[in-house]
Amino acid sequence: MSDTNTQDAVKQKYGEAAKRAAGGGTACCGGGAELSGCDPITKNLYDETEKAGLPEKAVAASLGCGNPTALAKLQPGEIVLDLGSGGGIDVILSAKRVGPTGKAYGLDMTDEMLALARENQKKAGIENVEFLKGAIENIPLPDNAVDVIISNCVINLSGDKDRVLREAFRVLKPGGRLAISDVVVRGEVPTGIRKSMELWVGCIAGALEEYEYRDKLFSAGFESIDIAPTRVYKSAEAHDFLAAAGLDTETVAPQIDGKFISAFVRAVKPAGRANVVGPSCCAPTCCD
Ligand SMILES: C[S@@+](CC[C@H](N)C(=O)[O-])C[C@H]1O[C@@H](n2cnc3c(N)ncnc32)[C@H](O)[C@@H]1O
Repeated sequence: MSDTNTQDAVKQKYGEAAKRAAGGGTACCGGGAELSGCDPITKNLYDETEKAGLPEKAVAASLGCGNPTALAKLQPGEIVLDLGSGGGIDVILSAKRVGPTGKAYGLDMTDEMLALARENQKKAGIENVEFLKGAIENIPLPDNAVDVIISNCVINLSGDKDRVLREAFRVLKPGGRLAISDVVVRGEVPTGIRKSMELWVGCIAGALEEYEYRDKLFSAGFESIDIAPTRVYKSAEAHDFLAAAGLDTETVAPQIDGKFISAFVRAVKPAGRANVVGPSCCAPTCCD
């Protein structure tokens, strides 16, 4: 699929999800949702205290695979950017954490999601928030503009992840940090099975292998790279979906068990470093 086709497919899928959430339903992530209600990737990401302070539709529209604001150690006064902000849940939570002296931007390319996010912001009564329309491959902010970039299950959807990470590096201030949740693959998975698993978790363009993620972050110029699992998926959780896709679940189980994870991906833009891209790193271990 070309990058333009990927973006169009992603826009259509998330436009429909936004309309479901705006209409009072849940957006739910991934093909698994259609078979079994909300899937194990999206459910129970936020604690009751966090949810209590949020508009219902912001929670219903949650399509992430982690809770980056809880892990990002946001400080009062910081400027945060959420790549692929969807219905706005992490932007609103970030705005509360950074307080009135800080600011949270949400960036999304899907009109229906932006409309829902702005409605949620209004209901939450939060002012230090701005939702921007645009692609994460071409971030509409100047160089060195934000302290922290968060993102929740979006970078796996991009057809040009190198460009996304270069853009993230560009807009971060020196010393700024990347703190994102994403689906990551650990080890080899046969192509056909991988495609079915990616449909299950809701990806269209595809999740990166852990070493590829490190490599791309390093090439974009980041340092202090860390990828920590937050959820590890068992083949049993995808059983019904894989069976409906015509796969022999007994055979594929050992090939996928524990290989798809939700991870918290962290990296830092070196302090005092201009927007210069680092050397390429190709070996699976060279960024450790
Ligand atoms: C899986 S949802 C996650 C939404 C939100 N982060 C959350 O946790 O609920 C993906 C969101 O990213 C947006 N998105 C996907 N690819 C994008 C791109 N290349 N540029 C901008 N937004 C994108 C979609 O429109 C959608 O709102």
